[in-house]
Amino acid sequence: MRVLVTGGAGYIGSHTVLALIEHQHDVIILDNFSNSHPLVINRLNELSGQTMKVYTGDLLDKSFLNNVFEQETIDAVIHFAGFKSVGESVAEPLKYYENNITGTLNLLEVMKAYQIKNLVFSSSATVYGANNPLPFKEPMPTSATNPYGYTKVMIEQILNDLAVSDSTWSITNLRYFNPIGAHKSGRIGELPSGIPNNLMPYITQVAVGIRSHLSVFGNDFDTIDGTGVRDYIHVLDLARGHVLALKKNQEERGAKVYNLGTGHGISVLQLIQAFEQENHVKIPYEVVERRAGDIGEVYADGTKAKEELGFQTEQTISDMVRDSWNWQKNNPNGYTQD
Ligand code: WQD
Repeated sequence: MRVLVTGGAGYIGSHTVLALIEHQHDVIILDNFSNSHPLVINRLNELSGQTMKVYTGDLLDKSFLNNVFEQETIDAVIHFAGFKSVGESVAEPLKYYENNITGTLNLLEVMKAYQIKNLVFSSSATVYGANNPLPFKEPMPTSATNPYGYTKVMIEQILNDLAVSDSTWSITNLRYFNPIGAHKSGRIGELPSGIPNNLMPYITQVAVGIRSHLSVFGNDFDTIDGTGVRDYIHVLDLARGHVLALKKNQEERGAKVYNLGTGHGISVLQLIQAFEQENHVKIPYEVVERRAGDIGEVYADGTKAKEELGFQTEQTISDMVRDSWNWQKNNPNGYTQD
């Protein structure tokens, strides 16, 4: 199929672009490069052996969006484009609601105008909020504790309502748990701008000497060792999940939702230990106060994705920490011309 990937130059988007090509799809990338580097495209060309077709622009620019659909024959869309910093969303809610919600509404309206009704949406485990029992299951009620999380909850609602109003839509919401790792080549990977919010990129920046040490946000949670537990999933597994979701959309209409996680929780200290053992690099850390809003334990029930998508993770925690480090140590300054 010819697949438009919004946010296709981003961390998960770029890995999904390669997975789509490996599964014989044709890819068109749409990105405004607000949180991704243009040189990612050079790396995708190198890794795929193809020349990426890229439209640089913003989902808030409806005439730009119409032009993309006018110029291209598109069979399906995978929608990653959106802001994703929890902290920034609290500070700038209007920016987040406009960019994530209005951008998505624009995309949906143009898709509808061109009769393109196959959509995979990048949702997040954050929609489970803090009050559901573990492991998180798809039928559980959704909620949020920050504007970023609310944009995911609201977009899922918009997509569900759209599918009810028009049964010709095939929509799959994928709820990511904690994506880490990188392509085995080490040529693309996670590149947060500024101080990393997330654990894995912070660890790799400590390992490569950009940061002096890791702050562990609390060790008094009700978890195996008191530190936060999360369901880390390799970005290669996550990317493959999107290919399966596209196929599912071809087989079944309506709005569907799946967890993409391993079903296992790993604590901060366990991840540090796995990283040190696999990569023979010491990660100095200091335990500090909890981060506001953090919950102690999060992990997925992956049964539905396994039964209905045929999805199950293949990469191990050792793969994740090895591949994250391989990317960082080979690209200490992020994307450069080489
Ligand atoms: C993981 C664990 C922290 C950094 C966030 C978003 C979520 C999703 C994934 C987009 C927690 C601890 C972290 C650090 C630490 N993003 N930690 N020191 O919070 O599970 O989820 O990213 O969808 O929406 O909320 O991931 O990597 O920030 O934290 O101790 O410097 O590591 O307390 O226990 P999180 P994270």
